[in-house]
Amino acid sequence: MSMNLITVLYLVASVCFIQALKGLSHPTTSRRGNLFGMIGMGLAVITTIGLMYKLSAEADSPGIGYVILGLLLGGTAGSIMAKRVEMTKMPELVAFMHSMIGLAAVFIAIAAVVEPQSLGIVATLGDAIPAGNRLELFLGAAIGAVTFSGSVIAFGKLSGKYKFRLFQGAPVSFSGQHKLNLIVGIAILVLGLYFTFTGSLTAFVLLLILAFIIGVLIIIPIGGADMPVVVSMLNSYSGWAAAGIGFSLNNSMLIIAGSLVGSSGAILSYIMCKAMNRSFFNVILGGFGAEADAGPAAGSKEQRPVKSGSSDDAAFLLTNADTVVIVPGYGLAVARAQHALMELAEKLTHRGVTVKYAIHPVAGRMPGHMNVLLAEAEVPYEQVFEMEDINSEFGQTDVVLVLGANDVVNPAAKNDPKSPIAGMPILEAYKAKTVIVNKRSMASGYAGLDNELFYLDKTMMVFGDAKKVIEDMVKAVE
Ligand code: TAP
Repeated sequence: MSMNLITVLYLVASVCFIQALKGLSHPTTSRRGNLFGMIGMGLAVITTIGLMYKLSAEADSPGIGYVILGLLLGGTAGSIMAKRVEMTKMPELVAFMHSMIGLAAVFIAIAAVVEPQSLGIVATLGDAIPAGNRLELFLGAAIGAVTFSGSVIAFGKLSGKYKFRLFQGAPVSFSGQHKLNLIVGIAILVLGLYFTFTGSLTAFVLLLILAFIIGVLIIIPIGGADMPVVVSMLNSYSGWAAAGIGFSLNNSMLIIAGSLVGSSGAILSYIMCKAMNRSFFNVILGGFGAEADAGPAAGSKEQRPVKSGSSDDAAFLLTNADTVVIVPGYGLAVARAQHALMELAEKLTHRGVTVKYAIHPVAGRMPGHMNVLLAEAEVPYEQVFEMEDINSEFGQTDVVLVLGANDVVNPAAKNDPKSPIAGMPILEAYKAKTVIVNKRSMASGYAGLDNELFYLDKTMMVFGDAKKVIEDMVKAVE
């Protein structure tokens, strides 16, 4: 494979990646976007194997064998994990992938610093690495290390399975945390510049250790509801780490793909920050929301009475309404109740009820989770409304049907300045004339908070698994 052909193929793969991002920006074009992404990645992998083969043949080394072995092992593990993962566990898988990208960047940087001649950075062993390359290696390694350790903490927090304190959803904060972050950040910068100008291996090792530590420090103070922003921020970091290493390896594909991931992740983080009413700089520097008090957790207070009813009661209210707004949440995805919901909505529409769906940007466990879920059940796009477009309508809505959603309709975000979710925009379901909430118990949502909405006079709780409850509602409407 000639270098010219490699450059052309990399260019075609880059165009595919750009088309993929364009396609993924809307549900109607997302399949096409995914297809472009797969073609681009396939092309990039095949071209890189070709490049490796050429380099290892020229150097008369057996290196290509290790590359193929790595590809087979990694590819098999990745396929099995992706096949097995449930939609609701996707953010953990994404956090795990980010951690692997960060670790790969660190390993490549270490290899490049120790054996620069093997990667073509210098001509022969013993030659000093040029200062420009050392700067790239410092940036790639430091961002990679932060991405790795930060993603490991994010993985633990998102899975909620581990007892280890740092893996708990609740923020971990201590006095002087911001000062410590600042000192560690400055130390990394100083060590990085020292390594850049002198090539000191000790400085490189120290900066790596500190980068691993700061990755942990910036993620531990982040509480449950703010995790979506963290995931997209780490996504962006992983892209920049790859791009930094791409410069060191002089690999244009890695630079382009890394920059695309880095910049699109940064844009997504910015959009998420706006949606969550958080400061972008607080997020990228870590620890936003750390000062808020933990607020009342569900179950921490004595049991308060709530009004509850059956699926039949709910169906009666729904059929007698003129307007119904459905708020889907994580619980709907867990119950896989989207098809039953579509059937219910069709039956109500048939009876002359105007049905709309209200989507909160962080409902569920990944960006666009609810859109994907509703699209799966072929809910018409024109019935699906984003938060800013539907919030003004809740005041005139007869019935709001909250299905497995909790944090995204919690009025504490508006009413309680001390709440960890204070300032986060919510779907203003509490303004509707009647609210029906379906969930299995009075348990809290992801942020671990009690929800005043459930105790309002106009709220009726319908307890049970969302799929069963909705199927019963369908029967009752019939
Ligand atoms: P949550 O606040 O997590 O609440 C979901 C509710 O669903 C729970 O209170 C649970 O109550 C109920 N539920 C669970 N299984 C159910 C089932 N089978 N049937 C009926 N109900 C069920 O969900 P949300 O309102 O969608 O908010 C999302 C939260 O996740 C936010 O805090 C957000 O910041 C966070 N988060 C989002 C993302 C992204 S990018 N979307 C990523 C990470 C974290 P019961 O146990 O009582 O049933």
